[in-house]
Amino acid sequence: MSRILITSALPYINGVKHMGNLAGSMLPADVYARAMRLLGHDVLYICATDEHGTPAELAASDAGMGVAEYCDTMHAAQAAAGADFKLSYDYFGRSSAPSNHALTQHFAHVLEAQDLIYEKVSKQVYSNADGRFLPDRYVEGTCPNCDFDAARGDQCDNCGKLLDPIDLINPYSAVSGSKDVEIRETNHLYLRQSALSDRLRAWVDASEGWPSLATSIARKWLDEGLRDRAITRDLSWGIPVTNPDGSRRAGFEDKVFYVWFDAPIAYIAATQDWAAKTGGDWQQWWKTDAGADDVQYVQFMGKDNVAFHTLSFPTSLIGSAEPWKLVDQLKAFNWVTWYGGKFSTSAKRGVFMDQAISIAPSDNWRWHLMANAPEGDDAAFTWEEFAVSVNSDLANVLGNFVNRITKYAAGKFDGKVPSGGTEGEDEAWITAELETRLPALIAHYEAREFRKAMEQTRAIWAAGNEYLTKAAPWTHYKTDVDAAAVGVRAGLNLVALFGIIAQPIIPDAAGKILNAMGIPENNRTWNFGDIPALLNALPEGHAVSAPDVLFSKIEDADITDWATKFGGGE
Ligand code: MF3
Ligand code: ZN
Repeated sequence: MSRILITSALPYINGVKHMGNLAGSMLPADVYARAMRLLGHDVLYICATDEHGTPAELAASDAGMGVAEYCDTMHAAQAAAGADFKLSYDYFGRSSAPSNHALTQHFAHVLEAQDLIYEKVSKQVYSNADGRFLPDRYVEGTCPNCDFDAARGDQCDNCGKLLDPIDLINPYSAVSGSKDVEIRETNHLYLRQSALSDRLRAWVDASEGWPSLATSIARKWLDEGLRDRAITRDLSWGIPVTNPDGSRRAGFEDKVFYVWFDAPIAYIAATQDWAAKTGGDWQQWWKTDAGADDVQYVQFMGKDNVAFHTLSFPTSLIGSAEPWKLVDQLKAFNWVTWYGGKFSTSAKRGVFMDQAISIAPSDNWRWHLMANAPEGDDAAFTWEEFAVSVNSDLANVLGNFVNRITKYAAGKFDGKVPSGGTEGEDEAWITAELETRLPALIAHYEAREFRKAMEQTRAIWAAGNEYLTKAAPWTHYKTDVDAAAVGVRAGLNLVALFGIIAQPIIPDAAGKILNAMGIPENNRTWNFGDIPALLNALPEGHAVSAPDVLFSKIEDADITDWATKFGGGE
């Protein structure tokens, strides 16, 4: 048994997340957390809302709210959406929590003591109309390279050139549209990432089992030469820049830490908040001198987050010279696209978590998104394929199997696991299937290969159907009740097993199945040591019932309706 610390990239606060965000971080982390708990590991799954930065301020002002109040509201909305999708966080914290203020300031102090933070003056665009410095993405103007007149400060979307906002011709504020902008000097703290480049490379080289997506992104940045990054911003919302005695740092009265500096630190701070709430010991999970050496730390994220998790955050941890736990396994995902394009609220393309739950039960989404996880490449969501996942995999393969055999047992065997009869070649066949498939399923979960784990789950369910077709208890019943009893007994045991293996991915349906099979909640873990015994795990005479409809099918009319509301193929 191991201790496994799991974090998923912290969802940004400016709105409930879309299904692509869910599929690329929170959901796989949850499925993995559930599977590892079922295997008997001691799991701690931590997440939080990422609440600082300009987008939070702008979203709050769009919503006509103060930013703190906006974050309170959106944190609650995201917590509710997470609960709707059965995300089994051990703690869902907030990067704005006092714990994260203190810990982020602590990191800045120790990093500065290690000479890894320095002050530097730079030139930035200041908007008189907005009364603020404009972050790169909020300055627009004419590209000095190609004359495109709506280039963003960080990059020109027309010619692709990376830009410095002060080089834009005729710059204007993307916040207000005002042209009343000027270039001013401002002082910031910089993180000396360059100094750690060799240690980071050695650490990335020593990593094992990361997807190549993750290592290749990290190496690309290292190969280009790590640049020092500003870790403060001219904003009011965020974590204040302090001296070690707690007073505000001179010259930084109107500045806060950059959101990407404090957000990953919130993984730790949220664990501290979990500990404060539950009486747990956060240091055992995060401090290698307090037991975290034995922890397996697994992070889940989309590919745009990889550089921050393989370079900047490790710089903070390693550079502090304190014994912090580093990530062991980093699972990075590509994008889920909407019919090959981008999700966009304004263009009505794509579904967000709060809408999705009103369309279909969370199990349907969980299954579909994980069966099509964007692991090897980007994966396009389409309503048509969503319907196939639900109608064929869930309703036909799993739902029908459960239905067929539980109803038959209720009708012909008084809703009890029958005794009698002798197992024969059909039972030998399904046992052999399980003997290869169950260990493979566990191996896929352990390797965080979600598509493969879903394929194997479906194959096991399909083998159950094939077994029933072979054993055909309904044919035997008229002439040989004992032969029918063998098939029904094995069938009911397979129902229980299918519910057991379905738990990480479709927890609601799995719970219904296991309740109908009368399996107590404390007896649902994964213990597949003696596979032949699985066909006889339920005691003979044990009462079972047929669960209510597990999955309702999606009709063509639903697809048309949803495509109109949320976009679809053109
Ligand atoms: N909020 C970021 C995003 O949505 C992810 C932050 S992950 C953490 O891309 F490391 F900062 F926590
Ligand atoms: Zn250009």
